[in-house]
Amino acid sequence: MLNPYLPLPVRLEKVTVENDARDLKTFELSFVDPAARRSFSFEPGQFGFLSLSGIGEAPFGIASAPHEERVWFTVKKTGTFTAALHELSAGQPLGMRGPYGNSYPLEKARGRDVVIVSGGFSFTTLRSTLVHLLRPERRGDFGRITVVYGARTPGELLYKDELRAWEASPDLDLTLCVDHRAGDWPATEGLVPNVLKRVAPSAKNAIALVCGPPVMIRFTHPVLAELGFAPERVFLSLENRMKCGIGKCGRCNIGDKYVCKDGPVFSYDALRLLPPDF
Ligand SMILES: Cc1cc2nc3c(=O)[nH]c(=O)nc-3n(C[C@H](O)[C@H](O)[C@H](O)COP(=O)(O)OP(=O)(O)OC[C@H]3O[C@@H](n4cnc5c(N)ncnc54)[C@H](O)[C@@H]3O)c2cc1C
Ligand code: FES
Repeated sequence: MLNPYLPLPVRLEKVTVENDARDLKTFELSFVDPAARRSFSFEPGQFGFLSLSGIGEAPFGIASAPHEERVWFTVKKTGTFTAALHELSAGQPLGMRGPYGNSYPLEKARGRDVVIVSGGFSFTTLRSTLVHLLRPERRGDFGRITVVYGARTPGELLYKDELRAWEASPDLDLTLCVDHRAGDWPATEGLVPNVLKRVAPSAKNAIALVCGPPVMIRFTHPVLAELGFAPERVFLSLENRMKCGIGKCGRCNIGDKYVCKDGPVFSYDALRLLPPDF
């Protein structure tokens, strides 16, 4: 039986600095063993652990879509591990284990409208979701796709080239918002929940996928409820502290649920039954 803690060797192919503060970078990885890439299958919303020899490891949401050749992670520099990761350049080796956790329930979204709400650098796994939904062979499976994505300033928005292309695309309705406008980026000024209220996507036959900082999530719930989204049609991704990622260490639990194994994606309905510490 394969050791679930064993990282697979991967190589850093490309690093993209995502923001003005230069503390958000996207790392594009390839597998050293091509057979490992073929057997690495995941769904949007899942996460993996990156590891650096002599430093440690940490969990990150997978930002690439399943069909993309390279596996992407977008990482904010916050402490020891992420600072070491930010020092790496193309060609350097690292380890990756996963994929872990559940995914966004895209099967439930078939034939329905999809509303994506995100803030800051939590957009990563929703970028994976969006790229997956927008594949020409998948796009017809879903109704209208509405995205409200916000950041403090335009310079903090991730994946700017893709955002520009999506803004011009007839395949989705993208509204970008910032707390403070700056430069020539044509984003709406306003907080994500307020802008969502103005955009007012129809809740009829729709599901909502939400990922963002806790404060954004807290103020987004009531807006979705007001728009008519039932709690079982709203899905959130959580980022509790984790150690093992596979339901063994008890580091990530909320009540009797392990965020690493039962999540990280939960319906709001399911979360309402848990102790209020997420
Ligand atoms: C399922 C999952 C998905 C994640 N996806 C991403 C992602 O896509 N991109 C990304 O940048 N980060 C993501 N994170 C958070 C990431 O794992 C942490 O930022 C990382 O572990 C920090 O490691 P470090 O050694 O650099 O920081 P440390 O030195 O361990 O800590 C630095 C500071 O960050 C705080 N911190 C550490 N981990 C967390 C956490 N999970 N939540 C809140 N505060 C924390 C610490 O309290 C401390 O103040 C994810 C976490 C989980 C559990
Ligand atoms: S991280 Fe160990 S049980 Fe979830």
